[in-house]
Amino acid sequence: MWNKVIAVFVGVVAGLWWFQDFDEGVIKGQRVLVTGASTGIGEQLAYHYARMGASVMVTARRAQRLQEVVARCRELGNKDAIFGYVTGDMSNMSFTKHLIQESTKKMGGLDYLLLNHILSPNLHFWNGDEDDMAHLDKVFDVNFKAYVHLASHALPELEKSGGHVVVLSSFAGKSAPPFSVPYASTKWALAGFFSGLRQELRMKNSNVSITICIIGFIATDNALSAFGEIQNGLPLQRIIGSAASPSDTALDIIRGAATRQRELYTPFLKTYITSFLSGVCPSFIEYLIRAVYNE
Ligand SMILES: NC(=O)c1ccc[n+]([C@@H]2O[C@H](COP(=O)([O-])OP(=O)(O)OC[C@H]3O[C@@H](n4cnc5c(N)ncnc54)[C@H](OP(=O)(O)O)[C@@H]3O)[C@@H](O)[C@H]2O)c1
Repeated sequence: MWNKVIAVFVGVVAGLWWFQDFDEGVIKGQRVLVTGASTGIGEQLAYHYARMGASVMVTARRAQRLQEVVARCRELGNKDAIFGYVTGDMSNMSFTKHLIQESTKKMGGLDYLLLNHILSPNLHFWNGDEDDMAHLDKVFDVNFKAYVHLASHALPELEKSGGHVVVLSSFAGKSAPPFSVPYASTKWALAGFFSGLRQELRMKNSNVSITICIIGFIATDNALSAFGEIQNGLPLQRIIGSAASPSDTALDIIRGAATRQRELYTPFLKTYITSFLSGVCPSFIEYLIRAVYNE
């Protein structure tokens, strides 16, 4: 009986997801800002948006990587589109204001704000020592506070365009993964802040959408090397499976944002089912995760 109910439920959700109406043409002429775009999913987001005819501004700390990303966007993109970059460190909150001002000035406004950058997770047991505390402060500045500051500075422009805020979160923001407690905490905090903000925007009849992306294991260079460190003989692969492609992930995110989904799961089945079960039977899922790590 229960397996039939679950099968119907999964089928309906998967069906709704597959039939989301998305025409890439709606991206043409849109003005997009992607943070953390020097590599990984952010870089792929920039290429897909450029290919679809959007103007794209990218940001991160490494100027040379950003110049290469912008050059590739120009090759892929529309000749009338505007491409550019701003370098800066997201642990500096005054940079967030500067970034929004520069980007909107250069593109003449803003339609999409993609909050994607992260300080690479520092994977180990939480000890609560001075190093952990210093890391916690930095992670919250870069992975949480900068997202809040960026969205807040961008909202007036997004209100004018009826635009979109896209927040890259993680399965770690829906479950209790070990070895990345500060990182996971920022993802839970982002869900709290942006879900509450979405409610307030609706109460004010705002046309700005907020899409929170629940992302599984994606084969970016940084994720592969971070997970490689703790995998060290542990059968981690059995719970998270093989990593998905950053390019496919970026496309899912673009589709979810354009269709104004409140939450987007990618890769869909793995992240949706595990997040659903983490809500329904959290102790059991936590036990499974611990059991695998304890082997
Ligand atoms: N990959 C996965 O398996 C996975 C899983 C779940 C969720 N996600 C989420 O997806 C998003 C992208 O992940 P990813 O794997 O593509 O990340 P990534 O490859 O590690 O890229 C991180 C980006 O953030 C930038 N960055 C790092 N620290 C910064 C700072 N202090 N100031 C400004 N920029 C900074 C980096 O560029 P610079 O070094 O040049 O500054 C880089 O462009 C993240 O929000 C992540 O939590 C990823």
